[in-house]
Amino acid sequence: MTIITCIEDLRVLAQKRVPRMFYDYADAGSWTESTYRANTSDFSAIKFRQRVAVNLENRTLASTMAGQAVSMPVALAPTGLTGMQHADGEILAARAAEAFGVPFTLSTMSICSIEDVAAHTTKPFWFQLYVMKDREFINRLIDRAKAARCSALVLTLDLQVLGQRHKDIRNGLSAPPKPTLANLINLATKPRWCMGMLGTRRRSFGNIVGHATSVSDMSSLSSWTSQQFDLSLSWKDVEWIKQRWGGKLIIKGIMDAEDARHCVEAGADALIVSNHGGRQLDGADSSIGALPAIVEAVGKEIEVHMDGGIRSGQDVIKALALGAKGVYIGRPFLYGLGAMGEQGVTRCLEIIRNELDLTMAFCGLRDVALVDKNILLPGSYPQR
Ligand code: FNR
Repeated sequence: MTIITCIEDLRVLAQKRVPRMFYDYADAGSWTESTYRANTSDFSAIKFRQRVAVNLENRTLASTMAGQAVSMPVALAPTGLTGMQHADGEILAARAAEAFGVPFTLSTMSICSIEDVAAHTTKPFWFQLYVMKDREFINRLIDRAKAARCSALVLTLDLQVLGQRHKDIRNGLSAPPKPTLANLINLATKPRWCMGMLGTRRRSFGNIVGHATSVSDMSSLSSWTSQQFDLSLSWKDVEWIKQRWGGKLIIKGIMDAEDARHCVEAGADALIVSNHGGRQLDGADSSIGALPAIVEAVGKEIEVHMDGGIRSGQDVIKALALGAKGVYIGRPFLYGLGAMGEQGVTRCLEIIRNELDLTMAFCGLRDVALVDKNILLPGSYPQR
């Protein structure tokens, strides 16, 4: 029995169990991966103020994100091809999140469809939308998300063009994997993964079937992206989507204070400070580096969430201290899923919850709502 004490343990196990092209797909950043690395290393530079002799009884991590109750302010980020980390991955991750009381966000580019996830969960999940030229397709996706009772729409704006990840090109990423000699040799070392895939019908993009039947590998995906993703996207389109959706709207991919103001003006309920986990503009600031200026720009007008580089509950509390109302994790839950399926996602959330709770206690607090800059050592965090 493998002992799992931290997210890194899940990553190591996932690397053993998931076929190389899908592990690399999750683990990679764009071009030189400098922003991907900065997302995690910039967290390490931030230091806590340790406090003692404070009453630490009855601690609580309960909070809200976009007006919804959460057992801790951590959501699962939308990630494409999640069902390739583990058979039926989106369903398993959604179930783990539901049991834990945190939001699950289903990507447009998922393997399991909106309807698949809805059929296997009981509480509402969130749906992530990319803006495509074909407005009828957007209309259909929005209607499907509404029919599935999704309780928030996460609108991702940082993918009008696709960042290049060298590993995906070299690995010939495709879903399902093509039966090349290299793939077959690698798959032979991943028996659990193969057995899982044999037991499911869900092996390609569930939400875009019918719309983009030809999309399976990286080159067809990137040509579909460049045909479909809207290069003329403007804030007017965001307003149209907000109206068409009519529910909670969270705008994802904001790294600039001026763009954050646009989110306020477009009537979003929340924005996510995010550089897509370092997968889009390499050379952009880390998410934690960009957070303070954005928090200052929007004040209390809308909620500011963030993602990118969170690998522990300690990182979560640092982001909250710098003004985030909640955070999202991407790779940590994918590692959990690849390592141990649903149980691995649950383990990932448990690890983060324990680290968050203990760190809050070391900083002398009992309620996550009270976390602010006072728990950080002045001078160790990015100033506006
Ligand atoms: C992503 N991300 C992403 N974002 C989005 O809006 N739609 C998507 O389909 C995807 N797909 C995707 C796939 C994979 C494998 C990863 C790792 C990421 C970005 C994601 O939502 C989030 O912004 C980052 O994952 C956050 O960084 P960490 O937590 O992975 O460091």
